[in-house]
Amino acid sequence: MKTINIGILGYGVVGAGVAKLLKQKKQLLESRIGAVLNLKTIADIDITTDRGVELGTTALVSDATVIIDDPEIDIIVETIGGETIAKEFILKALENKKHVVTANKALLASYGNDLVKTARKNLVDLAFEASCGGCMPIIKSLRESLVANDIKAMSAILNGTCNYILTKISKDGSEFEDALKDAQQLGYAEAEPSLDIDGFDTAHKLAILNSLAHGMEINLKDIHVEGIRTITPKDIEFAKEFGYTIKLLAIGKIHENHVEARVHPTMIPDSNPLSHVDSSMNAIVIDADATGQAMLYGHGAGMMPTASAVLSDVADIARNIISGTKRRVPILGYPEDNIKPIPI
Ligand code: HSE
Repeated sequence: MKTINIGILGYGVVGAGVAKLLKQKKQLLESRIGAVLNLKTIADIDITTDRGVELGTTALVSDATVIIDDPEIDIIVETIGGETIAKEFILKALENKKHVVTANKALLASYGNDLVKTARKNLVDLAFEASCGGCMPIIKSLRESLVANDIKAMSAILNGTCNYILTKISKDGSEFEDALKDAQQLGYAEAEPSLDIDGFDTAHKLAILNSLAHGMEINLKDIHVEGIRTITPKDIEFAKEFGYTIKLLAIGKIHENHVEARVHPTMIPDSNPLSHVDSSMNAIVIDADATGQAMLYGHGAGMMPTASAVLSDVADIARNIISGTKRRVPILGYPEDNIKPIPI
């Protein structure tokens, strides 16, 4: 059986989850993919903290170039996050003809177009199922399952931290700050939680989804963004009295010659299934022309749901490698040489 070597850059919550799941599901993955997935090396600046993962033969190093420059590594999983060093490492990895899997929505939202071009130039894959909606297969749904549809609209809860906070205030009468602290302890919140509560994390995800849904370049700067900072328990209470729940929604709609894209707290009637998506759960309702409405629901954040999404990409790429396919599908929504600029 062919061995596919994997390296992980970043050994935080998500990186450790990926390592753990790869080890736990080694045999299952081998039987389903037909290749050995060998976690060869993990790189992180902290190589002493115990993450509770039995590493076996996997090397833990402090220098990322040990992975990026290793000719034996086929797939690099980036779980560092942020837009600086992660970008440099991913670009270098793609130039070195490594397939890259990332959960880094902030980086994709800001530099995804460049990363995609670099991946295409080097005939390698750049996969990012874990960047939006945690374990929900949104990327694969838009890119593959719904490929024969025009996507008319999407409404989604895409930030586990905000949904957790709003649910805690609504159901338990918690204070905003206490609910945020809980979300941080549970590993949902970003290192910089204002990305969550001010709506930018949701906007990053919407920018990626719009690109896939509507065949356009990633466009973050034109998305209207409002967060949940100004929502008070009284607002939530009043909304409840009238049969509404307040949720932070990402909304993307196609119009004749532009896409409408906005993120803001929204009053949702109890009759709408999104109003019942609680805690850190995420959900998306996709309105497509052939299928009609379809809904996905699942854990949008957290160690193992995110690791599961990362490994779905690793498995896809591994299958491509063993079948000799360079890349199975175009990386983003638009055809290779026919990028259609649709304004937001
Ligand atoms: N901070 C993000 C959230 C993590 O709360 O949803 C998953 O993208």
